[in-house]
Amino acid sequence: MRMYDVISKKRDQVELTKEEIDFFIEGYTKGDIPDYQASAFCMAVFLRDMSEEERAHLTMAMVNSGDTIDLSSIDGVKVDKHSTGGVGDTTTLILAPLVASLDVPVAKMSGRGLGHTGGTIDKLESIPGFSVEMEKEDFIKLVNQNKVAVIGQTGNLTPADKKLYALRDVTATVNSIPLIASSIMSKKIAAGADGIVLDVKTGAGAFMKSEEESRKLAEAMVSIGNRVGRKTMAVISEMSQPLGKAIGNALEVKEAMDTLKGKGPEDLTELCLTLGSQMVVLANKASSLEEAREKLRANMENGKALEKFKTFIKSQGGDERVVDDPSLLPRASYQIDLPASESGYVKEMVADEIGKAAMLLGAGRATKESEIDLAVGLVLNKKVGDQVQKGESLLTLHANHEDVEEIKNRLYENITITENHVDSPTLIHGVIK
Ligand code: URA
Ligand code: CA
Repeated sequence: MRMYDVISKKRDQVELTKEEIDFFIEGYTKGDIPDYQASAFCMAVFLRDMSEEERAHLTMAMVNSGDTIDLSSIDGVKVDKHSTGGVGDTTTLILAPLVASLDVPVAKMSGRGLGHTGGTIDKLESIPGFSVEMEKEDFIKLVNQNKVAVIGQTGNLTPADKKLYALRDVTATVNSIPLIASSIMSKKIAAGADGIVLDVKTGAGAFMKSEEESRKLAEAMVSIGNRVGRKTMAVISEMSQPLGKAIGNALEVKEAMDTLKGKGPEDLTELCLTLGSQMVVLANKASSLEEAREKLRANMENGKALEKFKTFIKSQGGDERVVDDPSLLPRASYQIDLPASESGYVKEMVADEIGKAAMLLGAGRATKESEIDLAVGLVLNKKVGDQVQKGESLLTLHANHEDVEEIKNRLYENITITENHVDSPTLIHGVIK
């Protein structure tokens, strides 16, 4: 087989076979196929698309390019949740203990954040002592014991995806549905989940800005998952403004604890109940979404969800006293309000730009090497649709330096207030099975 022929076939819109896709991924991972041919291949896929069968083959070829995690020694159906990235997305911190409180095993491998998107590990590490470094055996033992554990990236998972993603980044081929869908799904499948609940974001803060594109991506991932034998479904959710109120690591831990008590922001709570119900049903711990939702709601109110969070923190070396005393979390030196410059209704809070402002305060990494400040970030006091009086605080900056004028200006540029009534945006745009 020659790579030249595989590229020309894709260029001429002929469907590729499993053998041809395997040949490309194996050869590229080993270094036998050079970057220039892989670039041409990605561009051909970008322009010509892939059939559902080709996408499934590409995904499995990437899964097989490296290690996979075997979770079979964990009892029960292992359901993983994946979000396509957003601003202030605190859902994993809430969902992990919440669904575990219904005995759904959560064996989560997580990453650090990059750019304006926060990472679950960074957030958890703002709890003093908390560690995600452990042996795989201990990880599995913890999940069997407590139903929940989070581990950092281990092993050499999907090396083909790592190499291809970096190549796509410099060849204008990131934004291709078959390439994004296979990239994300290969990582979830290699991480060992039996079932996958996807939270596909739509709007300014999302990878996919339009609802139509988000839906296509969701359908592509659901099709791949189900074709390769993993129960997969997707929720399409709003990401035009940040999710919940807190953006920033320790601030989001506090927000997660409030939500686990049933006292969280409305949108964040609703998204967690929607995704959580799907996870509980996939794991066969409820027979309907309604029943699952009631059980989740009950555990927020009777304290079991929060108790599970405590157990989870303690089991990974963290100071579980933060649950009863959030002042033990890192706290920024300055709390600075951003007053509304006019009265009216909040029309827009551009999610990615607000995420970038939080990053500039130090909450996120501009590059992989940057150090982050776990204490800093933003807390929204108003959200889209809320009425506001001139001078009232739109949000509070939590900063470790006083010199925040530029960041404040940036925030003003990305928050629009209008005279007329504004509806709050629809949160859930659809469910794809
Ligand atoms: N996230 C991924 O993991 N892969 C992509 O291709 C795009 C976003
Ligand atoms: Ca949040």
